[in-house]
Amino acid sequence: MSVKKILIFNWKMAPQSLSEAKRLLTNYKRPITNNEENKKEIVVASPSVYLVYLSSLSSVVGRKSSVKLGAQDVFYENSGAYTGEISPKMLKNLGVKYVIIGHSERRKYLGETDEMINKKVLAVLKAGLKVILCVGEPTRSIKYKVESIKQAKNYIKKQLEKDLKKVSNIKYQVSRNLIVAYEPVWAIGGSHSDTPEDALEMIKYIKQTLNSKFYILNSRVLYGGSVNSKNIGDFLKRPEIDGALIGHASLKVEEVKKIIEIASKIV
Ligand code: 13P
Repeated sequence: MSVKKILIFNWKMAPQSLSEAKRLLTNYKRPITNNEENKKEIVVASPSVYLVYLSSLSSVVGRKSSVKLGAQDVFYENSGAYTGEISPKMLKNLGVKYVIIGHSERRKYLGETDEMINKKVLAVLKAGLKVILCVGEPTRSIKYKVESIKQAKNYIKKQLEKDLKKVSNIKYQVSRNLIVAYEPVWAIGGSHSDTPEDALEMIKYIKQTLNSKFYILNSRVLYGGSVNSKNIGDFLKRPEIDGALIGHASLKVEEVKKIIEIASKIV
């Protein structure tokens, strides 16, 4: 059986009002199809202020819902005096199913360290939620491509070693609940994505590393970084690329519809 591809739409710090968020969400619908293979998982990772409202909608709750809810961050403790933080338990009790952890923007602007990210990964897996762990190298040279890809692999291996420390001690279904998003930092923001060939090479490498270093088999690995309706097909048609993490295009109504439509045609 092939692994179900997943589309994760990361709204980042947008939109600016609940009414816009409500309107935006109405565009996230899976095309009606009887083909189970083609039913992609669709996740909207909304700013936390909208999660309470969005979690009450019939389109995002229940087994047949067309969209699942994701959070963009979480804290690593379930209780205690941590002003401003949100616990894994709070998210779970709200019906949130996925949590993005270690996004490069949080690493860069909020000073998130691999140690913090590791604690978050462990806490979220223990809570029975799905982790979307973001990894990716900061730069890549086109001129020295082979050398540069080697360096990128090394960088990501180190990130995985730190971010997934002690993960094998967790008895929960790690493979099923851990998703890794390969997001090369230089490709984020909409100006240029990685090539599907190079992204594929990196994704295969991540899968091998999960397997050989952590005994994690069958975790899904996605590509993220300037994914849009023009290039999503090229990424998703490769069987080893299990889905996409989409940023700025997730705020554009027509793009969202096209991306979902294109993805639904790819098994
Ligand atoms: P863009 O799709 O805007 O490049 O963002 C990617 C990303 O950071 C998704 O988490």
